[in-house]
Amino acid sequence: MKLFLCLTALAALYCAVESRYSPPKVQVYSTKPGLFGDDNILLCHVSDFHPPDITIQLMRNAAELTPANQTDLAFKQNWHFHLTRSVKFKPQEGEEYRCVVKHGSDSAKSYLWDPNV
Ligand SMILES: *[C@@H]1O[C@H](CO)[C@@H](O)[C@H](O)[C@H]1NC(C)=O
Repeated sequence: MKLFLCLTALAALYCAVESRYSPPKVQVYSTKPGLFGDDNILLCHVSDFHPPDITIQLMRNAAELTPANQTDLAFKQNWHFHLTRSVKFKPQEGEEYRCVVKHGSDSAKSYLWDPNV
């Protein structure tokens, strides 16, 4: 009986957590101002999302920038996750840099880096 109650409570908790779907907030930025031809680091910070099922790509035009670093998946309050992916790059005029985020079963969304921010 106790075991059954425990399992029921666990299932309820699991469902409550799982149903708390939230799309990610995405910020694309660089460590230095976006000067063309200068070594720089492009970062994509993704936060406040649930469930934790996510993939992040940093792109130059249609090609993925590698090798990239990615922080471990971490969560703060309310089971909302955040992580940061970064890659070294040298911005060139006329090229587009973006972060592409695929969360859960949503289709991938892309976020453009603005060199003037
Ligand atoms: C990736 O991580 C390594 C080791 O911590 C560090 O030396 C390197 O600068 C990082 N690269 C980027 C693009 O953050």
